[in-house]
Amino acid sequence: MEKTRSSFTGKLGFVLAAAGSAVGLGNLWRFPYLAAQYGGGIFLLVYLVLVVTFGFALMAGEVALGRKTGLSAVGAFQVLNKKWKFLGYLTSIVPMIILPYYCVIGGWVIKYFSVFLTGQMAAAADASYFGNFAAGVFEPIGWLFVYLGITAVIVYLGVEKGVEKASRLMMPALVVLTLCVTVFVLAQPGALEGVLYYITPDFSRFSSGTVLAALGQLFYSMSLAMGIMITYGSYMKKDVNLEKSVSQIEIFDTGFAFLAGLMIVPAVTVFGDMSQMNTGPSLMFVTLPGVFAKMGPVLGSVVGALFFLLVLFAALTSSISLMETVVSILQDKLKWGRHFTCMVVAVCAFLIGIPSSLGNGVWANVKLFGMDFLTFFDYISNSVLMPIVAFLTCLFIGWVMKPDMFVKEIRLSSQFHREKLFRVVIRYIAPVCIVAILISSVFQLV
Ligand code: PHE
Repeated sequence: MEKTRSSFTGKLGFVLAAAGSAVGLGNLWRFPYLAAQYGGGIFLLVYLVLVVTFGFALMAGEVALGRKTGLSAVGAFQVLNKKWKFLGYLTSIVPMIILPYYCVIGGWVIKYFSVFLTGQMAAAADASYFGNFAAGVFEPIGWLFVYLGITAVIVYLGVEKGVEKASRLMMPALVVLTLCVTVFVLAQPGALEGVLYYITPDFSRFSSGTVLAALGQLFYSMSLAMGIMITYGSYMKKDVNLEKSVSQIEIFDTGFAFLAGLMIVPAVTVFGDMSQMNTGPSLMFVTLPGVFAKMGPVLGSVVGALFFLLVLFAALTSSISLMETVVSILQDKLKWGRHFTCMVVAVCAFLIGIPSSLGNGVWANVKLFGMDFLTFFDYISNSVLMPIVAFLTCLFIGWVMKPDMFVKEIRLSSQFHREKLFRVVIRYIAPVCIVAILISSVFQLV
């Protein structure tokens, strides 16, 4: 088993691939509007505190679990404790649910990139454009196919030649593109107002809801509780400094989310108004195209194309991690070959993605708990399954196996500076906070 398992090459391989997974659509559109909605600076502060405590402990725990066992979720839990095999299965369901609909959104991103690239910005800036496009039957499914195809090819190529190489190319490009667009936005007259809106704490909008929103965002943004970090940990060499790698991912993911806010919030205030800082896909696919159009036909097309290209890179490195995780789980479990598994997963993800795509149009009136398919899959995975998995993972690490085992694994490669924090958070603080999110999201549903 050990011999056939691939691994990341150097120190940077793991960090770039894991950071690639973490930085995604969540950072680019979810984080900025949450910050704008929940009191600016105060949200940023709460988020930051949660990242360095809660996020750190959970991520270090998951990576250590993967590295220790050399297996992805199903195998990892099972090998350590047979009775907890169920948690491996439960964890595995999460990326399986997310992958198809994430690729539907990825398809929209490629579509918008191509629209800006081919000079059709004026049409895309019309408020009804997105709705009409997403409601179509063949076009969005075609883009889903293209996006999933790119993801599948990279995963097919393997951990080293596909996942790692793609991250090495796309992550630096992503940072450069984001910096370019951010500098451009910040140089516009009136940008300062948006920046202030984004970073000034508004205590009147602080509530327990702020903490819950930040916690929910944290899971999603750091790709926790879905087996990804377990799988990537299993590809990590024993001599790579685990604590430092996790810190680097935290810094990168949070820094990038912050930067995305610095780009998007002022862009909306300069070229539109704050009421357009809306939630959901409309921010990215309706408001921002409108913002780009106001920059003028040439400049708007260039900035818009660059923007969607960067979104595409961010999304791709995330969907790669989702698919890699699913493939690795099936491979471990069923002992299928990698290439075959990859093709099976791609075909299944495509078929399962179709309802999420059609739910915006011809199947709009097919509702699950009052939600269309995409919203439902998103809700079930992020608001229900992920907190449950995170809670059980904390119990498993903190109480069933005990933190010592994981502390030892982390110490294999370096000192463990935040060891105390790790123990306290994983055993006490995290489980309590997660139950709070879970209760609140169940209440939201009823
Ligand atoms: N962490 C990614 C983001 O911030 C989201 C993601 C979800 C990535 C699921 C992989 C899997 O957007």
